[in-house]
Amino acid sequence: MSGIGPEAAPDYTIEQKWAAYTEEEHAVWRLLFERQERLLAGRACREYLDGLGALGVAANGIPDFRRLSEILDRTTRWRIVAVPGLVPDAVFFDLLARRRFPSTCFIRRRDQLDYLQEPDIFHDIFGHVPLLMDPVFADYMQAYGQGGLKARGLGHLERLARLYWYTVEFGLISTSDGLRIYGSGILSSGSESVYCLGDPHPHRLVFDLRRVMRTCYRIDRFQDTYFVIDSFDQLFEATRPDFAPIYREVAALPDFEPDQVVENDQRFSGKACSRKKWAAAELGPSLGRKRLEDVR
Ligand code: PHE
Ligand code: FE
Repeated sequence: MSGIGPEAAPDYTIEQKWAAYTEEEHAVWRLLFERQERLLAGRACREYLDGLGALGVAANGIPDFRRLSEILDRTTRWRIVAVPGLVPDAVFFDLLARRRFPSTCFIRRRDQLDYLQEPDIFHDIFGHVPLLMDPVFADYMQAYGQGGLKARGLGHLERLARLYWYTVEFGLISTSDGLRIYGSGILSSGSESVYCLGDPHPHRLVFDLRRVMRTCYRIDRFQDTYFVIDSFDQLFEATRPDFAPIYREVAALPDFEPDQVVENDQRFSGKACSRKKWAAAELGPSLGRKRLEDVR
């Protein structure tokens, strides 16, 4: 999985070797891209779709990180670096803090279109990178990296990981047109992008930092609970305070189960999804995680 090959640099980055992708690998990318592009109209937030459009090079086949990085760097000063798989926490946070997004290079096989246990290039690039074109989200991701280094030192990584999970990976955002997706774990999943907005089962709660930090999550199935933000500005502001006292406060309180709802919880009450077409999701999430700490 994340075996570091001999060619890995001390910071775990490798070369993408774009020219070595096969026609079949490009074809799998296009298949996934076209399917998600169709599903995400009216479901993904505007900032994501704008970013995806502006990174137009990603539509033709597996993108060359050098081309993507050029566009990103010009826009928000982020760059993509290739990594062999999941990297250690400290490396991951350090890269984010330096506005480097680590992406895997391999793509799932044609018989794995719908479910994969670890992130691949489609999840990392299609799911994560378009939002890095948004100036506020770009700053949030850098702040998260800095916060990760700090949380590690304080021994509260698990609480910070939950924040990543329920925002960067599985976040929903309320817009004047209705609820929209911004979490990359959803954006790269055909079935969960439909389920998260249209299915009556999951709870949709108004984002609350402490509530999120206390909520466990499941890595191997659709989420039971999504947290809804109003804007990236709100998310950035809510996470600006020093977390050290908040970690201590939250550590003294019990955790919540993924599907638990309590009296104080505020349910999101806006309209869920304006798109009528809602087919039963027959498949699992496109991406699971092997371990709790693998929150990429
Ligand atoms: N404000 C946080 C802290 O002091 C850092 C952070 C910012 C964490 C944004 C996550 C997201 O630790
Ligand atoms: Fe991810």
